[in-house]
Amino acid sequence: MQIVIQPNADAVAEYGADQFSRLLSKKPDAVLGLATGSTPVALYQKLIGRYQAGELSFAKATSFNLDEYLGLSPEHPQSYRYFMQQQLFDLIDIAPEHTHVPPGNAADPITACHDYETRIEAAGGIDLQLLGIGRNGHIGFNEPSSGLRSRTRVKTLTQATIHDNARFFTEGEYQPHLSITMGIGTILDARKVLLLATGEAKADAVKAMVEGPLSAACPASALQLHQHAVVVLDEAAASKLADLEFYRHIERENQLLLQRLGKS
Ligand code: PGA
Repeated sequence: MQIVIQPNADAVAEYGADQFSRLLSKKPDAVLGLATGSTPVALYQKLIGRYQAGELSFAKATSFNLDEYLGLSPEHPQSYRYFMQQQLFDLIDIAPEHTHVPPGNAADPITACHDYETRIEAAGGIDLQLLGIGRNGHIGFNEPSSGLRSRTRVKTLTQATIHDNARFFTEGEYQPHLSITMGIGTILDARKVLLLATGEAKADAVKAMVEGPLSAACPASALQLHQHAVVVLDEAAASKLADLEFYRHIERENQLLLQRLGKS
């Protein structure tokens, strides 16, 4: 895992946006794995800004989102499809037919999960998968106890996740308890993964992911198995890492090496 520590949340978003910009300039038809939640919003705003400035185009790109609530239609304001339209898709030049979010209103969710895997494969696999992390260590809606080789499937949400996401629902509004999520195995198949975490509330989950054992108790720890996982943290999210100074040292060495190679 490459651990990148940035001074604040804005710098985390900037670092993440640079990763997408670099990929799209090298490979305009890249397959992007996208995420919802509050963490990616600042990154999406930077991508929108770069698109509006003419620096970036998504015209040839394809996207696959990590997850969706089961039981919500794409038009539902709390659905992740709706979130993506509002926060990104409607504001950039990505072709609507190239954007994929698991169908929360599928008549047959089990078949829909298989179809989602097939579509990812047919698109050539995901080049860069963006991730947040839940306070309980989930990635996508892969809650603790998720199989480390799991594929896209229906997953029951924990009470902790339902509680954390209740802020997005108005009081008394129906809040789904089930989801469709890419599996941990699906995420690990991405050629590169980019996990962003900001704020002290994520510090324990970040520590378990980076320094804890590989365990289904912390699904994000599965990223320890990935060949190209980049974890970008602000100071608060990094604050409980025991080897913080070592990670900073590695990053400085990486930067020096890139400078020497003329790649920074
Ligand atoms: P958040 O959610 O970005 O809203 O904190 C992250 C997640 O639950 O994966």
